[in-house]
Amino acid sequence: DNLGIVAVAFSGGQGKGGVDAGPQALIKAGLLEDLKNDLGYKLHYDDQIHSYEELIPAEDPAIDNMKRPLACSQVNNRLHEQTYAHASQGRLVLTLGGDHSIAIGSISGVARAIRERLNKPLAVIWVDAHADINTFETSPSGNVHGMPVAFLAGLCQHDVFGWLKEEYRIPADKLVYIGLRDVDRGEKKILRENNIKAFSMHDIDRHGIGKVVDMALEYIGDDIPIHLSFDVDACDPVHAPSTGTPVRGGLTLREGDFICEAVHATGKLVGMDLVEVNPMILAKEFGADTWQVAETVRTGCSLVRCALGESLL
Ligand code: ARG
Ligand code: MN
Ligand code: MN
Ligand code: MN
Repeated sequence: DNLGIVAVAFSGGQGKGGVDAGPQALIKAGLLEDLKNDLGYKLHYDDQIHSYEELIPAEDPAIDNMKRPLACSQVNNRLHEQTYAHASQGRLVLTLGGDHSIAIGSISGVARAIRERLNKPLAVIWVDAHADINTFETSPSGNVHGMPVAFLAGLCQHDVFGWLKEEYRIPADKLVYIGLRDVDRGEKKILRENNIKAFSMHDIDRHGIGKVVDMALEYIGDDIPIHLSFDVDACDPVHAPSTGTPVRGGLTLREGDFICEAVHATGKLVGMDLVEVNPMILAKEFGADTWQVAETVRTGCSLVRCALGESLL
């Protein structure tokens, strides 16, 4: 099978340095060799970790409560073209982040190609502690990594993201969340008012991960391609401590891997993001030492391998 890979060293969707070093850490840990040698993919990778320096303006003041708006828009516009190019050729597309704002580009590029090739919308399974569905109006932080779903689902629009056309968006009724446990007040209202399907950690406690994943897949239906957007902070900080916005009470490693395995088993996966691995998160801030960085990278690699077909037996 053909696998397109885009490594995105972007941290402008939030304020902490280091998440731009995520792709390099995942690749250095041997992720791409595993995909090639163990899982048998033919890799289409430009051997670059894109920092898109030429697209990042020296001055980029907030616009309407969006921090670093031009960098976020321009990087995502370029990434959109990259994932679109892979997906147009029928390749499964893996995007390694970077903060979660990059899902605006990665998902819209895949959605555009799927619409053109199959005349179908793209379903998205968003695995995260956070809903990332703030609009620039509801966001308490102004960080774009808390807003990608709102832009992708057309729940907010802004001239800065004028390139994000309707045909590149995803329908709100083909979006499903797993793992939520830190959702802002404004986001709860958006989820409710738009009837968006969401399975929180509470649902996982009640039903178990197997049932929750069954319900999520049943909800999106089996006639539609799937993009899996996995924020490593969905996993409990025990397994993924080295990330910018860790939240206690998350997925175990097996629960995270299980979601990925089950999505792979549908045969419908066309795109995946693995984001928010930050190997340089300040030790004094979250107490992450080298061991914790290694653990986070290991978790990220495991999730990707499971989504791409690694199985226990
Ligand atoms: N909800 C918060 C915000 O809007 C946190 C978002 C965290 N997002 C993430 N991709 N880790 O700023
Ligand atoms: Mn998150
Ligand atoms: Mn919060
Ligand atoms: Mn996220």
